[in-house]
Amino acid sequence: MADQASRSGDRYATPQILDWAARTHHPADPGLNRAFTAPAAHGMPEIQLGPAEGRLLEVLLRLAGARKVVEIGTLAGYSALWMARALPADGHLWTIEADASHAAVAREVVEDGGYEDRITVIEGDALDVLPKLSDSGPFCAVFVDADKARYDRYGRWATANLRDGGLLIGDNAYLFGHLLEDREDAAAMRRFHEEMADHYLSLCVPTPDGLAVGVKVGSDT
Ligand SMILES: C[S@@+](CC[C@H](N)C(=O)[O-])C[C@H]1O[C@@H](n2cnc3c(N)ncnc32)[C@H](O)[C@@H]1O
Repeated sequence: MADQASRSGDRYATPQILDWAARTHHPADPGLNRAFTAPAAHGMPEIQLGPAEGRLLEVLLRLAGARKVVEIGTLAGYSALWMARALPADGHLWTIEADASHAAVAREVVEDGGYEDRITVIEGDALDVLPKLSDSGPFCAVFVDADKARYDRYGRWATANLRDGGLLIGDNAYLFGHLLEDREDAAAMRRFHEEMADHYLSLCVPTPDGLAVGVKVGSDT
């Protein structure tokens, strides 16, 4: 009998089908394209989300009616632009980036996309920045996409600072295939999953490296 956990749709997804689906559901947008190519253009690592994952964030935030969002790990601002598209006019995204050169490129990308009113790029280590951001909460969504060995700490901060019904989302949830190994970052990532399982209605979407998604469940539900 087929192992239910290992069944996924990727057996049927040819590159041509993926291209057609992307063009049909979320046609190319010049601002997003410039953000997507910014890491390569500036000699930065090309570790941004793929377009379908970006669109998934936009859809999820819309579903949650998100108004106040925190991102940990900006890079050049590609995922930030996708999330900002989901926000109402009075919504805001705070995105945290430790690398000064990445933060500088992200600010250009945000300005170029016309989102400077809706996105604040905060330069600093997330563990220093997050406690200061708490006063702006509670938040509607937290997207974690930074140093993997601290995902557990980011997850705990999110649980303490999200409203009930808020979203916790974490990229690279399979840790590049190392999730089940005996190493520090894998243990932290497993604790991040367990945090979600304990406090959220959650799943791990089988994107190429796993996207963990949870809706925070209130203590009285
Ligand atoms: C995978 S990239 C983020 C990609 C981005 N979310 C996107 O899809 O466009 C990870 C980023 O997190 C940043 N980073 C790593 N550790 C960090 C920390 N402790 N605090 C803030 N940013 C951090 C890195 O410098 C890098 O730019």
